[in-house]
Amino acid sequence: MSRIAYVNGRYVSHQRASVHIEDRGYQFADGVYEVIAVINGQPMDEKPHLDRLDNSLRELQMKSAMARPPLRVVLREVIRRNRIRDGILYLQMTRGVARREHSFPTMQATTLVVTIRPATLPPPEALRAGVNVVTLPDIRWKRCDIKTIALLPNVLAKQHARETGAFEAWLVDEGGFITEGSATNAWIVTKKGVLITRHTNQSILSGVTREGILRAAAAEGIELEERSFHLKEAKGAAEAFLTSTTSFLLPVLKIDDTVIGGGKPGKITSQLFQRYVKKLRINKKKRKKQDERKAAFSTSDSV
Ligand code: PDD
Repeated sequence: MSRIAYVNGRYVSHQRASVHIEDRGYQFADGVYEVIAVINGQPMDEKPHLDRLDNSLRELQMKSAMARPPLRVVLREVIRRNRIRDGILYLQMTRGVARREHSFPTMQATTLVVTIRPATLPPPEALRAGVNVVTLPDIRWKRCDIKTIALLPNVLAKQHARETGAFEAWLVDEGGFITEGSATNAWIVTKKGVLITRHTNQSILSGVTREGILRAAAAEGIELEERSFHLKEAKGAAEAFLTSTTSFLLPVLKIDDTVIGGGKPGKITSQLFQRYVKKLRINKKKRKKQDERKAAFSTSDSV
């Protein structure tokens, strides 16, 4: 079956999907995006993702390509047309096509692209395997709370990680404090069992997974602090992990050359991982039941 993408009002073959060479996304990275997990055919945490999208658009004075209800329909249609049960949705809006000039064009028709690819729930091996991270200076701009497609520093950081055999790069601010990963949020657990992740402001992206993990930690009664943590504190931590829509939750077993927690995922990391996976499975079960109910309803309908 061929992949289908949505581009400006049309469902087209993914292979042939394209936007104009004068699209401002292409020329200036003048756009925003969201990455949403799809579980059992439904977008997960859709509302917080679309709320964050609205926030990114507002901050860049960009108009949404469409109102939320039709946008939700498009997302579902892309899932349906690609017959995806579990996957990753990608949604991008740019300030449209215009003659190249830095200032905003007077006529703005926001470009909207939606794509999807299959992906699987994190396997339990992910917890056992864990990942290594390297650290790098955070050279990004001062509005990392906006989810823009201008990701060159993130791209360079991730490439550096890959070239040095690490999964992710954790970025360090001028004071020596960790901000976040190139495409993930960063977490540590102190030797006293306190879970720490940086507070949200303009220096990091407020991750939707981060919010979910904060709620999970509160429900588990884990002591929690949202504050900056120094690289030194991270290297001396009992546990560390990272979170994102695509990575879910991955234990960090090494930061640069420092082994964390004896090189094994810690208790709190595992607890949160189990809870998060359970939430995904519950969502799956709930949705399966909803599907079954719908199917039963449509069968009884047709009788
Ligand atoms: N990245 N920080 C940065 C810089 C990110 O790019 C991301 C997500 C996150 C985690 O956010 P969330 O939990 O909402 O996925 C934190 C996506 C997955 C990406 O660019 O592919």
